[in-house]
Amino acid sequence: MILVTGGAGFIGSHMCRRLRDEGIDHVVFDNLERGWKESLGGSRLIQGDMRSREEVAAVFDREEITAVIHFAAYIEVGESVKAPAAFWENNTIGVWNLIEAMRSREVNQLVFSSTAAVYGEPQQVPIPEHHPRNSTSPYGDSKLASERMIEAASAAYGLNAVRLRYFNAAGSHPDATIGEAHDPETHLIPIALLAAAGKRPRMKIFGTDYDTPDGTCIRDYIHVCDLVEAHILALKHLENGGKSDLFNVGTGKGFSVKEVVSAAEMVTGKSLDPELADRRPGDPAVLTADSSKIQSAWGWKPQRPDLETMIEDAWRWLSDPAYGPNR
Ligand code: UFG
Repeated sequence: MILVTGGAGFIGSHMCRRLRDEGIDHVVFDNLERGWKESLGGSRLIQGDMRSREEVAAVFDREEITAVIHFAAYIEVGESVKAPAAFWENNTIGVWNLIEAMRSREVNQLVFSSTAAVYGEPQQVPIPEHHPRNSTSPYGDSKLASERMIEAASAAYGLNAVRLRYFNAAGSHPDATIGEAHDPETHLIPIALLAAAGKRPRMKIFGTDYDTPDGTCIRDYIHVCDLVEAHILALKHLENGGKSDLFNVGTGKGFSVKEVVSAAEMVTGKSLDPELADRRPGDPAVLTADSSKIQSAWGWKPQRPDLETMIEDAWRWLSDPAYGPNR
């Protein structure tokens, strides 16, 4: 039985959908603070909080857990700057509670959601896994501290953990039954599409004077279903006795904010006329992944790498009249 923490969230709900499609037995642990129970589909939920050592441990007493995929965490860089303690508590102490519960119940397979944010301002792009970890926000720090705890637990207790450092998760399941629904929404693609759907006011471009060809920030967008595939491969690796490892997960191709806006205009047929605004503090100019390691180790290859495909999939979901927290 696989434990999926944060299974009601954006990436977690897509993971659960895939596990259901493949008939893989799993259970979700989620406090539903940021996730939506409507996204759980037929996956079974144990409602609980990563910050409670007792609630986390109780899952391992109730269920025959063999491996854990840990998504549950706060994810907004900007929010982390304003409320760092919440990130340390939920993200970092949450991981410690999980590691302790796994250790005492002798569960030693973990797939961990890490992030490009652990690298901070890149010294080179595309970023390889051996790039120094110089995170520049409490969010990045909370994930970096989690990575260090996982490394220590691997060395001391024989935990086998695969850390996946995601770049910018995007898109939604092609059948549009689940997708990205943060509240409040801060991510570029859903903001652009919600503006196109008339569900948000005019969008802003944060910064037009970056050292990039069109002056706007460049990101490596990766389809959520391609991220899920990386987790499936990580689970197989661990099931087959594979050891701890870590991988970047991105397409390696960057798109600027202006390119994303143009693609969103093309897909939706609407003009967005974005307001050109000041930089958002803490945004690096360019973040792209060197994902050659996961490609050569496991043959992982993104199946939906085109920006337009990601935006089309997200649009099918976000333009649905029933989209959102009240769906
Ligand atoms: N942006 C805008 N206008 C908006 C929203 C975003 O111009 O309304 C810009 C941002 O300034 C940035 C780019 O679009 O340059 C992408 O921003 P997102 O907020 O969509 O994503 P981030 O790159 O800031 O962060 C995301 C996740 C993090 C993760 C990181 C890894 O939110 O959890 O990717 O690269 F760590």
